[in-house]
Amino acid sequence: MKQKILVTGGTGYIGSHTVVELQNAGYDVIIVDNLSNSNAEVIDGIEKISGIRPLFAELDCNDKEGLNKLFTENPGIKGIIHFAASKAVGESVQKPLLYYRNNLVTLINLLELMPQHGIEGIVFSSSCTVYGQPDILPVTEDAPIKPALSPYGNTKQINEEIIRDTIYAGADFKSIILRYFNPIGAHPSAEIGELPNGVPQNLVPFLTQTALGIRKELSVFGDDYDTPDGSCIRDYINVADLAKAHVIAIERMLENKSEDKLEIFNLGTGRGVSVLELINAFEKGTGVKVPYKIVGRREGDIEKVWANPERANKVLGWTAKESVEDTIVTAWNWQLKLRERGIQ
Ligand code: NAD
Ligand code: WQD
Repeated sequence: MKQKILVTGGTGYIGSHTVVELQNAGYDVIIVDNLSNSNAEVIDGIEKISGIRPLFAELDCNDKEGLNKLFTENPGIKGIIHFAASKAVGESVQKPLLYYRNNLVTLINLLELMPQHGIEGIVFSSSCTVYGQPDILPVTEDAPIKPALSPYGNTKQINEEIIRDTIYAGADFKSIILRYFNPIGAHPSAEIGELPNGVPQNLVPFLTQTALGIRKELSVFGDDYDTPDGSCIRDYINVADLAKAHVIAIERMLENKSEDKLEIFNLGTGRGVSVLELINAFEKGTGVKVPYKIVGRREGDIEKVWANPERANKVLGWTAKESVEDTIVTAWNWQLKLRERGIQ
């Protein structure tokens, strides 16, 4: 009997890749998404890859009654993967209340409804942003949580505390918190990928749009950092590798593989790559030059951060497999597919 999993934010970037991996693993997936930062055509892409069209409910997770109705009409949901959130750091500074409401109330609604519907576990999308600039690199899950540099980062920290406090108060469900580093790339089929609204804030979509001529040139935010080539360092992880970790996390919870009701894992490659190195990897992998210029630092940027993924490697039995060099080419193939479809 296929186990039912609810994926909130399932037409989004990471959610859509995770739906594919859940389906490949034999799960029956229900997507809830309000399409505030994605579109329903993503479901066509999911179906093209897996051959299975997931059930989709266009619904805002702030709508507790709507969620309750969804759970009532779809009995037997065993687990939730909660991706739905607003995630633009810069926007969060301009619109903090939107972020606090959207990123906190949606989680609270789900946690309150889970016991009423026999839902056994929730996987939560957190971020390495909770670490700020770590004192020690690579960063482990035991690193201190630093004061958030943005309302967005603060919502992730508060979300983690909400889950921790709820479980420690005796809630009858488990949770696995996954702290993502920098997800990049697209499914190898190029049927799904990252599709940011408007001008991309993140490096890779801006880079691929520049390479295609949509953007005039890429601004590299600073080359005067204390790093080998002066540009910032990040841990860029293939989005499909990231998605596979969610299937393992759900299985771990539903098959009661751990005594702990709350576990936290870093999802990264363990390898730090600089902005200039990533540009170089793109040009070598695609043969396409990226026009760029060095400009001043971007406010709030962390200088360097990369994961110590040993706990996920050993406890989950998960390791990021794809190299940055191969992954950045999947981002380019996706950008070419968008152009082919006349989307960008
Ligand atoms: P995304 O914006 O592509 O996906 C989020 C999805 O959630 C979108 O489809 C959006 O329409 C939906 N959504 C937002 N608010 C909703 C609501 N109230 N009700 C229903 N649907 C709602 O973002 P993503 O990159 O796929 O990120 C997914 C999760 O991972 C987010 O929680 C994000 O904070 C977290 N995360 C992302 C990154 C990253 O670099 N992309 C890194 C760390 C953590
Ligand atoms: C990566 C590097 C920039 C754009 C953010 C959020 C984080 C998570 C992932 C949600 C940095 C540089 C970027 C550009 C550049 N999101 N850059 N020119 O800032 O590491 O993380 O997205 O959870 O929470 O903070 O990702 O892709 O924006 O930047 O030089 O046009 O690329 O300075 O060093 P970031 P990013």
